[in-house]
Amino acid sequence: MQNVVEGASAGGPFDLTDDSAYRRWRDAKLAAYPARIEDLLVEIRDPEALSGAERAAIVERCGRANMAIYVCARPLDDEEANRRAVLALGRRLDLTVAEDHRSRDNDGLVRIELADTGGRAGYIPYTNRPIAWHTDGYYNYHGPNRAVVAMILHCARDADGGDNGLLDHEIAYIRLRDEDPGHIDALSRADAMTIPANVEPDGKTREANAGPVFFVEPGSGRLAMRYTARTRSIEWRDDPRARAAAAALTRLLADEPLILRARLRPGMGLACNNVLHDRTGFTTPASGGRLLYRIRYHTLIA
Ligand SMILES: [Fe+2]
Repeated sequence: MQNVVEGASAGGPFDLTDDSAYRRWRDAKLAAYPARIEDLLVEIRDPEALSGAERAAIVERCGRANMAIYVCARPLDDEEANRRAVLALGRRLDLTVAEDHRSRDNDGLVRIELADTGGRAGYIPYTNRPIAWHTDGYYNYHGPNRAVVAMILHCARDADGGDNGLLDHEIAYIRLRDEDPGHIDALSRADAMTIPANVEPDGKTREANAGPVFFVEPGSGRLAMRYTARTRSIEWRDDPRARAAAAALTRLLADEPLILRARLRPGMGLACNNVLHDRTGFTTPASGGRLLYRIRYHTLIA
């Protein structure tokens, strides 16, 4: 039995034997959870000089829902202004340890846009196709200290479609534990979900990557999640309980009423503790394709 998720201490809400701590945490979480996407919005005047109140508003949303959507009061002029905005926001939210992603530019940002040549070609994020539910970096888990636990996704240009579904992974944990604590047990195993070794579209071989679905980021004590709804190139632990838990997650992501949906517009961005998200497909207007900047971190907004 895996009573405590990786990275968590015994006792507390993420210990399956501590039901009273779980109940207290759960009830407070559900009572505070935003019912509408508007509750996540934080207007900011200048992303390069976040005020104390603006910063506090983003942190407060992240406390309730592990995510905030910031809205810049004025559109940003050019590529450099957008890049500076994202990097400054990350620093101001004390996000300092950025993921070393293969497609990142020198400043750590990855451009999410249509790319049919170069290192990004062949990967779904760089197409206009829908992306299934996932957390970022699920294929790159190296223990709770070196997992992707936060990210900023900033929109420079939007398109017709490309909307994101958003669900705090703590809500997923609650729904699963309430249905059957055995789901949490199964999803907390160190080999719950494995991305098998594979030759990637860039021609490089990526080693197999195994890890739990739920774990705790040790620095903050907060729950984190590693997940993809993809059914190809993914192996669930070979036991009936893991398969039952994965099936329960699929059901929940199809009909959970607390799922929120938003389309990021230019100057808007998602600052989050790597919540569950998906993306609808999109079509690109004739002038200027959809462009988002993304940066991922190994520490979270707390
Ligand atoms: Fe993503």
